Amino acid sequence: MMKVTQDKKLWGGRFAEETAPLVELFNASVGFDQRLYEQDIRGSLAHVAMLGRVGILQPQEVEQITAGLEDILKDIRAGTFEWRLDREDVHMNIEAALRDRIGAVAGKLHTARSRNDQVAVDFRLFVKEAALELAELTRELRRVMVSEAEKHLSSADGQPIILPGYTHLQVAQPILLSHWFMAYTAMLSRDEGRFRDAAERMDESPLGSSALAGTPWPIDRHDTAAALGFARPTPNSLDGVGSRDFALEFLSACAVLMAHLSRLSEETVLYSTFEFGFLTLPDSHTTGSSIMPQKKNPDVSELARGKAGRVFGNLMGLLTVVKGTPLAYNKDLQEDKEGVFDSFDTCAIVLKLYAEMLPRSVWNADTTRAAAARGYSTATDVADFLARAGVPFREAHEVVGGLVGVASRSGRQLWELSDAELKAAHPLLSAEVARSLTVEESVKGRRSFGGTAPERVREAVEAAKAALG
Ligand code: ARG
Repeated sequence: MMKVTQDKKLWGGRFAEETAPLVELFNASVGFDQRLYEQDIRGSLAHVAMLGRVGILQPQEVEQITAGLEDILKDIRAGTFEWRLDREDVHMNIEAALRDRIGAVAGKLHTARSRNDQVAVDFRLFVKEAALELAELTRELRRVMVSEAEKHLSSADGQPIILPGYTHLQVAQPILLSHWFMAYTAMLSRDEGRFRDAAERMDESPLGSSALAGTPWPIDRHDTAAALGFARPTPNSLDGVGSRDFALEFLSACAVLMAHLSRLSEETVLYSTFEFGFLTLPDSHTTGSSIMPQKKNPDVSELARGKAGRVFGNLMGLLTVVKGTPLAYNKDLQEDKEGVFDSFDTCAIVLKLYAEMLPRSVWNADTTRAAAARGYSTATDVADFLARAGVPFREAHEVVGGLVGVASRSGRQLWELSDAELKAAHPLLSAEVARSLTVEESVKGRRSFGGTAPERVREAVEAAKAALG
């Protein structure tokens, strides 16, 4: 439980009344922004060191404040620090605790700085690190997917696993399972790029923007920026404390990632059903039913699919918070944090779960191959056969469409049609031709760059492995 007693507010100079309890409750952010304590103390340490370097504070004052902050950091890490609601947020909790510990000299830490500065720098540090961490986790999942792609290039019988490829969720053409994995790898590679791009763009320190207009003190913003690992200081003080597009970019990269992972989830749910039977998920990553003993449910995938909703919502939420706020800081911006924490945590756990679950899942090669052969999936290959012999493709399409009609009305596959039926449709067709157009042949033929032919997919796997190092 957080303490609700009040001591004098750090900003209380002009106030004659105590803050109303409901306001205290409504205004406080310490319940969630305490998560920024590492960043807050790092920011303060860089600031106080700079104040000493430029001669604003005496070396002894810098030492006292530094030691006090390090002490507080230790206590917070150890879980012995008392967070107080009446001290509003992470910044004032730490500053007030510093005053409790080292006395009045603590008040000098806030020279040439504002809380707007603090929250902007803390949050940038957090979001930058979060973006880089999600980039790494996305890369890990890419690694897993590439190795799955490589593994399934030769199944038990040495042949690549073949999967039905769908459009409109109707069987379209056979593909390699490895090609399917490489499709997700391509999406994840752009997701990783989006996190890295965002991290690079937000790599500017707002510290020293002060309340909004800069400060008359001779501070060195380049010094604090470098000390905190930023590439440079933000170029404008109003923008430095008033902008949150770095968080929007992060949330948007999270949203796109979750859109991809929810497509993967949908396919995982579908392919692991009894009806499809393509995929057997590991017991370790599925759950049972309390009433139906036979059940093995794909909860991880369903939850991942469902959690895309909150991650999209977090982006829309912050866009709506920022929209229409006048420059520079407004308290509305305090609403920037929870959604970011939530999207970060959600993306991180979903990425980790898929990296664990996919290598433990089993693809049922016979089932996927049989499914890939059904649904007239090689009809395009028959049309291509005719077109290669000089028949205009549109005419070939019409001929094969007619054959599919004949076959489907009599419940047969194309290769089950008689020689006579095939020849009647087109003199160049025969039972032999139809039989030769297997799913394996179909896949092998698709050699265009980026296509599903085994040699192309192997190249893609090799290129991805090289890129991943
Ligand atoms: N808790 C505040 C936030 O998260 C910190 C900044 C407060 N600044 C202010 N001028 N009231 O945004």
